[in-house]
Amino acid sequence: MILGVNVDHVATVRQARGGIEPQPLAAALLAIKGGADGITVHLREDRRHIQDGDLKLLKRKISVELNLEMAALNEMIEIALKVRPDMVTLVPEKRKELTTEGGLNLKTNKKKVEKAVDIIQGAGIPVSLFINPSITDVTLSKKTGAQMVEIHTGRYADSKGKKQNAEFKRVKESIKKALDIGLLVNAGHGLNFLNVKKIASIKGVRGLYIGHSIVSKSIFSGIENAVREMKRLIKDSSR
Ligand code: PXP
Repeated sequence: MILGVNVDHVATVRQARGGIEPQPLAAALLAIKGGADGITVHLREDRRHIQDGDLKLLKRKISVELNLEMAALNEMIEIALKVRPDMVTLVPEKRKELTTEGGLNLKTNKKKVEKAVDIIQGAGIPVSLFINPSITDVTLSKKTGAQMVEIHTGRYADSKGKKQNAEFKRVKESIKKALDIGLLVNAGHGLNFLNVKKIASIKGVRGLYIGHSIVSKSIFSGIENAVREMKRLIKDSSR
């Protein structure tokens, strides 16, 4: 099972100052050193974190799978065809949401998604559809011609106890259905150091896509050293 690391939030910190650091590419290279099998970025319509330049730079500099998350919009399709990531994950996108809130609605967006899948896969780039853990959505995904799906684990991650068990069951059954009908299956959203094990134990899953919890943990595993180095610089210079 591969791990794709989402580095959007490194760009979120950079954009907070509008400067050049921290660089998503630098984080991606360290993530790869740590064992990441892939790097994911979500190029949003409002460019709130990842910028077009980040995507181009990642494409040039990383050798692992580059997964571009994007909405099925003409602008994004053009970018995907130009940059040629290793795969595209189509996600729904609302300008006001804090993060991707739900999977694609394949009933209302069938034509739009089908067209995007057709163009992108037609250009030789595999497409994954980010969908809710539902048998209906898995079946509809297959009909679009997409090669892959990513099952949304957000509700599993956000719930507890019996409710979490029920959400887990939905995820597991959707994965099984997707495998049965010949789709490649990924999972992600909200996975962290506590809840990942159960999902990782599901057989047949191709990859997990994780961002927030890894970036959050990185702050705590790195802040002590960063402060120590700054203290040393101050001490050495103020003697
Ligand atoms: N998969 C998709 C389709 C996403 O949109 C996101 C969030 O950008 C993730 C996975 C990763 O979610 P998280 O940041 O909660 O780990």
